[in-house]
Amino acid sequence: MFARSAVVAFVALPLLAQISFAKTCARTYTVQDGDICDGISAAHNVSTYQLAVANPSIDSACNNLQSGQSLCLGYEGEDCSTTHVVKLGDTCDDIAQTYGFNATVLNNLNPQLDAQCDNLYVGEVVCVSNTASVPAPPAGSSLPAATIPATAIPANPSVTPTAVPTSVAPAPTSAAPAPSSSASGDDDDDDLPFCDEL
Ligand SMILES: *[C@@H]1O[C@H](CO)[C@@H](O)[C@H](O)[C@H]1NC(C)=O
Ligand SMILES: *[C@@H]1O[C@H](CO)[C@@H](O)[C@H](O)[C@H]1NC(C)=O
Repeated sequence: MFARSAVVAFVALPLLAQISFAKTCARTYTVQDGDICDGISAAHNVSTYQLAVANPSIDSACNNLQSGQSLCLGYEGEDCSTTHVVKLGDTCDDIAQTYGFNATVLNNLNPQLDAQCDNLYVGEVVCVSNTASVPAPPAGSSLPAATIPATAIPANPSVTPTAVPTSVAPAPTSAAPAPSSSASGDDDDDDLPFCDEL
């Protein structure tokens, strides 16, 4: 009797935990003053998509990071830690080819990218490990980072005339600014661009 109920408890607990609680974080990071989402992603080899999915409390513009806040960088078993930071001129085909696969695979690893790859932006961090598992998109909502953030520069401005955000000041032909520089610079919040649409 006792042995049997003990077994039941052992079996039931992990199952319950799986159903009721968030997945286990494989890696965590404590937010520092001045951090932006894509800066954290670039420094820690976390895709923009994965950071957004693993931290649903971060708002769509990544404007609500709190210094000292603990972020989940990836779930156990679904943690892609081989990443590429998008540069001006990158295309999905180029990136995929560089890492030895095709754009379809890149899309599966980074489900926020649209089929035409015209929402790729400078400073975005993409998973480039074709052996990685990534978390599924959140049910019932739009994909994280499905659109180019208002402050970000499209990776391919020439092929994405309709996707150019209205409020971006610098011409796409100028050098891409470092992710920490502000595109419009009216206040501190502008130091938090390049994040994701949850
Ligand atoms: C991120 O990946 C690069 C390239 O593989 C590696 O050199 C670097 O140590 C990694 N950084 C972290 C924080 O894992
Ligand atoms: C991309 O690569 C995957 C995996 O190798 C393959 O199944 C798929 O057919 C390829 N897609 C295209 C469009 O080539």
